[in-house]
Amino acid sequence: MDKRGKIGVFDSGIGGITVLKEIIKVLPNEDYMYYSDSKNNPYGDRTDEEIKQLCDNIVKYFIDKDCKIIVIACNTASSKASDFLRKKYPKMTFIAIEPAYKMVHDYAYEKPTLVMATKGTIESEKFNLLLKKYDNHKTYLLPCVGLADRIENGNEEEIKRYLNENIGAYKGKVENVVLGCTHYPLIQEEIKEVLGQVNFFNGAPNLAKHLKHVLQEKNLLNDVGTGKIEFKDSQKLEEKERKFFKILKEEL
Ligand code: DGL
Repeated sequence: MDKRGKIGVFDSGIGGITVLKEIIKVLPNEDYMYYSDSKNNPYGDRTDEEIKQLCDNIVKYFIDKDCKIIVIACNTASSKASDFLRKKYPKMTFIAIEPAYKMVHDYAYEKPTLVMATKGTIESEKFNLLLKKYDNHKTYLLPCVGLADRIENGNEEEIKRYLNENIGAYKGKVENVVLGCTHYPLIQEEIKEVLGQVNFFNGAPNLAKHLKHVLQEKNLLNDVGTGKIEFKDSQKLEEKERKFFKILKEEL
């Protein structure tokens, strides 16, 4: 692998921005390639086999573009396809996001916790192993069917209505909220409007540190990159590209 190869980052849509922005903060001298699979999202309701196939296509694309490492910036894809991808591509290194439930165990074990994620993530074997290992026995699991889709479409009114209807019942009941889908950190403020003051847990900052560490260990850190980001959407939507760079700029 070449140090100057790009870091490939993918999600079913724009959610991976919340991961990419943390990575850019710790690795400003790398170059990036971001893949948004808007043609096939949401991933949250898809079967394991479909998700493996979709991720496989994206990985082939990244390998073809000489990416030196791949970040799975989608919890659903990580939980359903990361083992498969690691087995199929033993020479490639994959860094995969997962719901930050271990952080709850480490920092706020006593507090009642709401895990928000897609149905796919919540039902996955990988997440259930994590839950079993770090269970604080005060945890509510909420499969947020359709929420990532609403965030992707960016309709503020619909997002607010969805949250009121689906998480309103947890107001006063939970103090921790695990943002188990990479789209959800984009609506932290809206979640707070419904639940009040809660502690958010998001795996992206730790993933970014881990990625840096892995690149260092493999002697793959690039110090001459310029932070260039190439964007690719599976539907080739120009509007998606504009939205991606607009949100990334705001987030950074
Ligand atoms: N952003 C993705 C995740 O972290 C999934 C959204 C979707 O396509 O359902 O799970």
